[in-house]
Amino acid sequence: MNYISVAIDGPSGAGKSTVARAAAARLGYVYVDTGAMYRAIGLAACRKGIAGEDADSIAAMLPAIDIRLVYQGGTQHILLNGEDVSDAIRTPEIARYASKVSAVPAVRQFLLETQRDMAKNGNILMDGRDIGTVILPDAPVKIFLTASVETRAARRYLELAGKGQQVTREGVLRDVVERDRQDMSRAVAPLRQAADAVLLDTSEMTLEESIKAVLAIIQKKTEENRGV
Ligand code: DC
Repeated sequence: MNYISVAIDGPSGAGKSTVARAAAARLGYVYVDTGAMYRAIGLAACRKGIAGEDADSIAAMLPAIDIRLVYQGGTQHILLNGEDVSDAIRTPEIARYASKVSAVPAVRQFLLETQRDMAKNGNILMDGRDIGTVILPDAPVKIFLTASVETRAARRYLELAGKGQQVTREGVLRDVVERDRQDMSRAVAPLRQAADAVLLDTSEMTLEESIKAVLAIIQKKTEENRGV
């Protein structure tokens, strides 16, 4: 049986995970949030007091780390050594950690096989930064989902403030700009659009419009690949 893999990449705050999760649910595909895996490693480093830039200590910590994505009632939960850290990873501090540890080659290598294996067991929609370029270069559907820096910062602010976190608009904008810089400039698997990815800019779209646009691209690409 040939399963379909949909790769969605893009910068932080483009609405990728919300759009990808909803599109996967409508298609009946498993949604794989690879950012959550980097965040879990960032959380582990943070708890151990290891700096995000300390590549050697982070690499040394990996053998003792077990990361699992489990699905409960259709919702993805991330387990770090058996502990559900789904909420603990969603803070600005852990986002910054995730961006730093994701530049460590040993971390990317550690997650590569796990992510590839997930695509072997069913239809999946995987989102991240390097899914179309490195993890699943043969994915039949690739989408690069982005939005302007201002739009992304505004959306991220609303999301974090809505969760009651103490954030300012300026602080969130600074974080988004800094994470773009880190994610695009790292040596290993930097964020970039795959040559065969469809570019989708959601700056002027509502969430529902973005979901519909993603579903339309998936349908068109799947039909093309089937030779319809
Ligand atoms: O999508 P996110 O904000 O949860 O991702 C957290 C960090 O993890 C982000 O700064 C970049 C990194 N990341 C990555 O390098 N590769 C991926 N496939 C997914 C996320």
